[in-house]
Amino acid sequence: MTIDKNRVIIFDTTLRDGEQSPGCSMTLGEKLRVAEALENLGVDVIEAGFAIASNGDFEAVSQVAQLLKETIVCSLARASHKDIDRAAEALKKAVRPRIHTFISTSPLHMEHKLQMTPDEVIDRIADSVSYARNLCDDVEWSCEDGTRTEMDFLYRSIEVAIKAGATTINVPDTVGYTTPDEYRIIMQKIIENVPNSNKAIFSTHCHNDLGLAVSNSIAAVQGGARQIECTINGIGERAGNAALEEIVMAFRTRQDAMPYHTAINTKNIIRTSKLVSTVTGLDVQHNKAIVGANAFAHESGIHQDGMLKNAETYEIMTPESVGLKKSELVMGKHSGRHAFREKLKEMGYELGDNEFMSAFTRFKDLADVKKTLYDDDIIAIVDEDQRDNEYMKLTSWSFICDSWQASSATFGLEVDGENMTVTSQGNGPVDASFKALRGLLGGSPHLELYQVHAVTRGTDAQAEVTVRLEEDGKTVNGHGAHVDTLVASVKAYINALNKLRVKREKTAPEAMADQ
Ligand code: KIV
Ligand code: ZN
Repeated sequence: MTIDKNRVIIFDTTLRDGEQSPGCSMTLGEKLRVAEALENLGVDVIEAGFAIASNGDFEAVSQVAQLLKETIVCSLARASHKDIDRAAEALKKAVRPRIHTFISTSPLHMEHKLQMTPDEVIDRIADSVSYARNLCDDVEWSCEDGTRTEMDFLYRSIEVAIKAGATTINVPDTVGYTTPDEYRIIMQKIIENVPNSNKAIFSTHCHNDLGLAVSNSIAAVQGGARQIECTINGIGERAGNAALEEIVMAFRTRQDAMPYHTAINTKNIIRTSKLVSTVTGLDVQHNKAIVGANAFAHESGIHQDGMLKNAETYEIMTPESVGLKKSELVMGKHSGRHAFREKLKEMGYELGDNEFMSAFTRFKDLADVKKTLYDDDIIAIVDEDQRDNEYMKLTSWSFICDSWQASSATFGLEVDGENMTVTSQGNGPVDASFKALRGLLGGSPHLELYQVHAVTRGTDAQAEVTVRLEEDGKTVNGHGAHVDTLVASVKAYINALNKLRVKREKTAPEAMADQ
């Protein structure tokens, strides 16, 4: 990659740090769709997972690596040969692989988490980075809890990592503790004091515990960093990571103050944000910068009046620049295949023939029951459709809900290719449905959240349901959409079970793996 001095590399970790958010587990198919969307968005590096964490993570890294042809695909690995071997194996087919290895360097983490002396940590850095470098030309090294590390030890560790072959050095603010001024100075001092700093690109990775992740990331760039690690919608551990869309639009909008640029195609921001929100089941708060539902809405009379006279009175960037269009009236039941394909194209969906036919059938079914179809209805159809290769699928349903008998629900399901029927009674049709489905994976997941939204307006709008399940401290969000709220609820529950199945397999890696 040739980089001019103000070009900032965007390293997206939605699929790794983002997926570590409570409830944010994604299925393999969903990860592939997000990876594709991120490549279309123009990110430079995609951290596709933590290959050793589970077979599912390994498979995701390996399939993303095979799918993407332009973007660097990266896997995380602790400072151990086993982790690094697994990462390298998963990245075998990547056109542009990167191994990202890390170890903690703060006194607190070294003493309590790793139970290693500083000298042992230094040896581990030299060993792990050189081991990774023998397997891959592109190696990133991170000093976990970097912002709470003593500066002299930070210089020493970074010098060793670069000497061992690291080409990118990431200094994470793991616990979201730093401030913009402090972080800018940390970056500047590292670059000034590490003798071989000119041989690496420096990177930021900020968590948002104090709401400073975006400001801190920008400050680090002002201090000399040229890679930002971030996520779509700012999802990530605890309060999340720095939000990609906020950083990119801040650079773009305030070139006078921040003359940095990225390769992001900003017109794909909204589409990518919606996809991530749908597949993770994590709603975007309405007043969230750039991608929130209210980010470009003007309700007060004074503002509306100003907007009508000149949009710049209250708008510092245009909705079009992030790909926001009014939810338009699309078409109805008389629209044909050609018009539907054109509409999908205009919305950025390129579907294969089978996928297209299946989406078109759903579109026709929906048009039969819903007079007016909007862009968001089409998005819901395509999102639903792309779930069809899930482990557990809903094939038919029946609900009884009246004043004369207990409510009941009966479902036809396809589970791992086998057809089956489940039924239950309950306190209303939703309760009956969830009881019928609850035991399907064994265990008894606990329902933490059940939330219903309308995708568009009107009483015939599709319902969009989120279901959050918890089991042994692991949470997953499932998502479903349908004109019938009950069916949407059942789809959301089944989606959550499919995710729980993936998440059960994932073990939380210990602080340090055996060599
Ligand atoms: O927050 C952090 O320190 C991380 C590292 C693994 C890069 O996510
Ligand atoms: Zn992190």
